[in-house]
Amino acid sequence: MNKEIIALAMAYVKEKFENEYSGHDWFHTLRVFRAATRIAEAEGADVVTVQLAALLHDVDDRKLSPETYAEQKNARSFLAENGVEESVVCEICRIISEVSFVGSDSVVPSTLEGKCVQDADRLDAIGAIGIARAFAYGGNHNRLMYHPDIAPKLNMSREEYIKSNSTTVNHFYEKLFKLTDMMNTDTAKQISKERDAYMKAFIAEFLDEWEGRK
Ligand code: ADP
Ligand code: NI
Repeated sequence: MNKEIIALAMAYVKEKFENEYSGHDWFHTLRVFRAATRIAEAEGADVVTVQLAALLHDVDDRKLSPETYAEQKNARSFLAENGVEESVVCEICRIISEVSFVGSDSVVPSTLEGKCVQDADRLDAIGAIGIARAFAYGGNHNRLMYHPDIAPKLNMSREEYIKSNSTTVNHFYEKLFKLTDMMNTDTAKQISKERDAYMKAFIAEFLDEWEGRK
């Protein structure tokens, strides 16, 4: 596959997400692209495949683009229009379809390249940026930051996870604190440890302030 496709995909995604502020903006894709490249190089994966899947991983997102989600129409047509052969289109679409966290129904990607992309996407959901994205998402969806009487549901199925409209603090227990143990590659495991500790310290501080312990 020709490396020029990477520059074309960058331009395509940048334009597509220009007016998107819900936590899936262009800079999210750019951070995932960079982290995925770093992980792929360290893990010996096919870098161009990983980069292309990272760039396209949100263009048919279930929430952002429900009408193209099922058939991954945006990714498929971008790749086909730019002359990518069908077997590679399938490989990239498979990686994208395996990326998402969906509670206990989340999957371990079937290829090393998929593992790199999934880890990179998850690294961007944790740490300082992960905290910021969670509260931006909560605000965007009119969610309470926290409610002391609403407990997190720790083992939701795909259906339950998708329907859930819990508080943002619960999201940390329901997804974000689980991600470090779910990282596929040693490279991402290493990076995620510090980010996980930072998020846990943040939530501990948040609850201390809330409860008047500080
Ligand atoms: P991705 O697959 O890119 O991780 P998602 O669509 O699951 O993305 O979520 C986008 C961002 O919004 C992530 O940072 C995620 O943690 C956050 N997010 C998703 N659902 C919630 C929620 N219920 N409450 C708070 N933040 C959320
Ligand atoms: Ni993403």
